[in-house]
Amino acid sequence: MAKLRVVLTRRWPQPVENRLAELCDLSINADDHPLSRAELAQALRECDVLGATVTDRLDAHLLGTADRRTRLIANFGVGFNHVDKAAAQAADIVVTNTPGVLTDATADIAMTLILMCARRTGEGERLLRAGRWPGWSPTSLLGTQVTGKTLGIIGMGRIGVATARRAHFGFGMKILYHGRQQLSMLDETVFGANWHADLDTMLTQCDFVSLHCPSTPQTHHLLDTRRLALLPERAFVINTARGDVIDEEALAAVLAAGSLAGAGLDVYEAEPIVNPALLSLENVVLLPHQGSGSRETREAMGHCAADNIEAYVQGKALPNQVI
Ligand code: 8YV
Repeated sequence: MAKLRVVLTRRWPQPVENRLAELCDLSINADDHPLSRAELAQALRECDVLGATVTDRLDAHLLGTADRRTRLIANFGVGFNHVDKAAAQAADIVVTNTPGVLTDATADIAMTLILMCARRTGEGERLLRAGRWPGWSPTSLLGTQVTGKTLGIIGMGRIGVATARRAHFGFGMKILYHGRQQLSMLDETVFGANWHADLDTMLTQCDFVSLHCPSTPQTHHLLDTRRLALLPERAFVINTARGDVIDEEALAAVLAAGSLAGAGLDVYEAEPIVNPALLSLENVVLLPHQGSGSRETREAMGHCAADNIEAYVQGKALPNQVI
């Protein structure tokens, strides 16, 4: 029987590509360039399974490509907001993701951003590398202490919980959270966490607020001008979720006005473009979507996506079907 044709839109970790090459008729993107819309349309016409990532905007127009052959999109990543859900359903395309395996890596980057923006380490490094460090002084580059402060978490799923764990046990932070579901009493007691059904009231009490919710029509610009104004002036906003959960323009405005202490961002509304208003601010730490970027995690993500492809090849139930 002919092997299923699988196209990976980007390079995946070598052991995973090797595994898939054994299993199917595999096409890889040798130079790892982001595929153009024309290349994506061609891939959708030629392969049974598309191994996609956040850099592939699979909108209704592309998913409606004439003579499309693809039936499964195995997404390398937990977030799948780059795939138009209604269009995938209408076209009978199944989508899988890679939950669980990137929880710790992403929570580590959330904690990194909390520490970096509170302690102004980006500014410090820029100063030093530019040869502008005049030497130590008791009052230069003073940041904010993280230990003991209040962290508000929006979206208490796996990554939210892992971030709360680090912040609470590692830094003695008080945890507030807002999300669809309240943790069990037992878990709340473990983290000393307080659920806030009302996001607005939670925001008024935060020293730090960290986003861990998916990007959906309901969470688009969840932190907008009105909600950003509810945060105390001393507060920092951390985003390792998806760029569009914050209104970037509004965020840049409050940061420039000094009505918010700072922000730590790993994700952006129009990646890889970063709003120029943010680039010019000193009180923002900007990372290039590194949340899941440890070798171990990316390999685990690849194997998780490969498990879904393997199940599809074998006609078994898909472990991580999301659409
Ligand atoms: C991934 C992420 O690396 O999994 C996610 O949702 O945000 C990232 O950490 C990226 O999405 C790859 O597709």
